[in-house]
Amino acid sequence: MTDRHKRDSTSVVSEEQLDESTVILTGDRPTGPLHLGHYVGSLRNRVMLQSRFTQFVLIADVQALTDNFATPAEVRENVIEVMLDYLAIGLDPARSTIYLASAITETAELTLYFCNLVNLGRLQRNPTVKTEIRTKNFGDSIPVGFLIYPVNQAADIAQFKANVVPVGEDQIPMIEQANDIIGRFNELYGDGILRQCRALISSNEINSDGSRKSGLLPGTDGGTKMGKSLGNAIFLSDSEKEVARKVRGMFTDPHHVRVEDPGNVVGNPVFSYLDYFDTDKEKLQELKEHYIRGGLGDGVVKQRLAGVLEEFLAPIRAKRVEFAKDKGEVLAILKRGTNNARSEVSRTLSQIREKIGLYQL
Ligand code: TRP
Repeated sequence: MTDRHKRDSTSVVSEEQLDESTVILTGDRPTGPLHLGHYVGSLRNRVMLQSRFTQFVLIADVQALTDNFATPAEVRENVIEVMLDYLAIGLDPARSTIYLASAITETAELTLYFCNLVNLGRLQRNPTVKTEIRTKNFGDSIPVGFLIYPVNQAADIAQFKANVVPVGEDQIPMIEQANDIIGRFNELYGDGILRQCRALISSNEINSDGSRKSGLLPGTDGGTKMGKSLGNAIFLSDSEKEVARKVRGMFTDPHHVRVEDPGNVVGNPVFSYLDYFDTDKEKLQELKEHYIRGGLGDGVVKQRLAGVLEEFLAPIRAKRVEFAKDKGEVLAILKRGTNNARSEVSRTLSQIREKIGLYQL
């Protein structure tokens, strides 16, 4: 077993392992409306968990600014979009504390303390950051704010003493980075306040042999990850027409050229989506067998998928439209959550200042 795998398995927790000491923190950058990949990767988990555990959900506008500091209006607009998505999928403000990151200035303070506990090399080796640096073509001009966003994320988590973070697979390096920092804090200043955290990858993303599936819904183009910037996403707010159009354009098995050709369902995104969203598993199994045998056209399967997705999205869309009628109320909900989060955070920060040994004047 490689080192990396060892670390992975210790940084992941499954639902059955959660107990009453569980405090959950999770969130999204407001860089656009949320899509099916977000839903599969973490949103559906949050809805399930909110009735059983303490859960904080942040709209990570501070982190979004590290990418979009030149276009803050976009971030501002998308805060509302993400809020609407949250409410539409069933995050309940009475059960989940939904808050706005920038409105809690203590997080910036904690980020600064944490910056002392991590070195440049470690930040540059963070696989998520590394990939992003490459795709964004920063070259030698990496903005410092960008490089330290994992430190800021560690502060997001630590300020609530959260120990469980339901995220997609791609966020695991962030959890490891947070644990490095929290571990260092405890080592230097003493433990008793900050807890190590673990990623929660939803249980049906763990294979029966205990290994983990990628946990990512592929893009409509068959790419491993659905992403807004990749142009391969189906948004929770897409219209029925838009969804149908995107499904029609989906990548399938490239070797399935004629209807009678035998087809592949593994690695075929149309079937991956059906696996997640088609509730009629028997019918799906039949379709798969037919497709593998040959004689089933992509058009037919896509039509089924469009119907299945519409059934899933129609009620979400309707709720979204309802909430969107009163944006003032949406902001008021966010403000109430933020106030609750703030009182929790200021308590933790007092303890942290005391632990470090700062004067509290
Ligand atoms: N990095 C996450 C993303 O890009 C968003 C995020 C910010 C987050 N702070 C967090 C997720 C804390 C979990 C916990 O989607």
